[in-house]
Amino acid sequence: MTDRYDAIILGAGGAGLMCAGVAAQRGRRVLVIDHADEPGKKILISGGGRCNFTNLHTAPDRYLSSNPHFARSALDRYTPADFLAMVERHGIAWHEKTLGQLFCDGSARQVVAMLVDECARGAATLRLNAPISELSHADGLFTVCYREGIATAPALVVATGGPSIPKIGATGFAYDLARRFGLKVVEPRPALVPLTLSQDEALFRSLSGVSAPVLARAGRTGFREAALFTHRGLSGPAILQVSSYWRHGQPIAIDFLPDHCEGWLIDMKRSRPRISLASLLAGLLPGRLAEALADRIALPGPLDEQRDARLREVERRLAGWEFRPNGTEGYAKAEVAVGGVSVDALSSKTMAAKSLPGLFFIGEAVDVTGWLGGYNFQWAWASGWAAAHAL
Ligand code: FDA
Repeated sequence: MTDRYDAIILGAGGAGLMCAGVAAQRGRRVLVIDHADEPGKKILISGGGRCNFTNLHTAPDRYLSSNPHFARSALDRYTPADFLAMVERHGIAWHEKTLGQLFCDGSARQVVAMLVDECARGAATLRLNAPISELSHADGLFTVCYREGIATAPALVVATGGPSIPKIGATGFAYDLARRFGLKVVEPRPALVPLTLSQDEALFRSLSGVSAPVLARAGRTGFREAALFTHRGLSGPAILQVSSYWRHGQPIAIDFLPDHCEGWLIDMKRSRPRISLASLLAGLLPGRLAEALADRIALPGPLDEQRDARLREVERRLAGWEFRPNGTEGYAKAEVAVGGVSVDALSSKTMAAKSLPGLFFIGEAVDVTGWLGGYNFQWAWASGWAAAHAL
């Protein structure tokens, strides 16, 4: 028997559940299908189990997309304050950690329970453990065959996310489907991901476990946060952020002393003439890092024995230490994918395909990727909400 709905939503992650709850409470008959055995698995593992569910500084310039203006409409209409109002309505305690990042005090499970409850309030049907075997479109209706049955609807919302963390059921299904319906896909790549280094980056590889606040840059984009040296390369928020902007073959530059202005070392030469670079760095940076940098720079003797030109050179080196990652840790470790269903093919107001208005793409499947810090969930909520209002 074929069940008839107003909308079928593929994927019970953040975007799909938000879309389902809102559309169902607007009176739509909604079916959500997911092949996983529980909804919102990425929400559950997010933010170290506490889900960094939004960011107070959400703005389109904190997203990567081939059209940087695309996200504005949805982000303006469903804001962090709107999501926070829902969180509070459900009595979920939260706190701001840093940089506008809001987390649950308790568990990410509360966010999933909230979204599932919103779906139940609208009587949306949720089918889990339901792999999709066939999907077709004819006479204005989408037909989806899944494990438990067959459903049709005039609207299909694709909310199956991106391919990061395949072990919890992430797939590139949305991209395949988009291509099948003739929509362009911006080639996805892992983002918010640790970078790996080859054996010859001996400096960084020797520092596994050390963390320091730095300014990390890929091209013209820089982030001031912590970098963490790992046995495979570099991680920590500053590196995850620049990884989204990094392209194979490009260098990354690290400023180890971002609070120091040009000329600081020459000023030091005047105020503390007998100090060595190694002792100076030891007072400014974690011990092992200071030692490794001083060894590499190899400045013999105290500062007053150095020419100003040489000190300027040392400053420049410390402010833009270049290294060339040989890759990333891939989708197994990436929080998101950059790229996805081309925004040129979608309406920024409704997320519907311009060429087939009953077909919607929302959340991470779309070529809109946020910075680290709650921006990706805010996009999932906002794009889900935008589509729900067009169903
Ligand atoms: P999402 O991936 O959440 O959901 C897609 C759903 O579709 C899944 O339930 C999946 O099972 C289902 N699906 C996939 N393929 C299917 C198929 N073929 N058939 C049926 N169902 C299918 N962001 C943030 O803002 N704050 C944070 O704290 C974090 N933390 C974080 C930690 C980690 C470890 C990761 C991997 C990611 C984050 N993120 C994050 C990113 C965030 O999780 C991500 O951007 C959103 O979950 C995207 O939501 P979607 O609903 O678009 O996809």
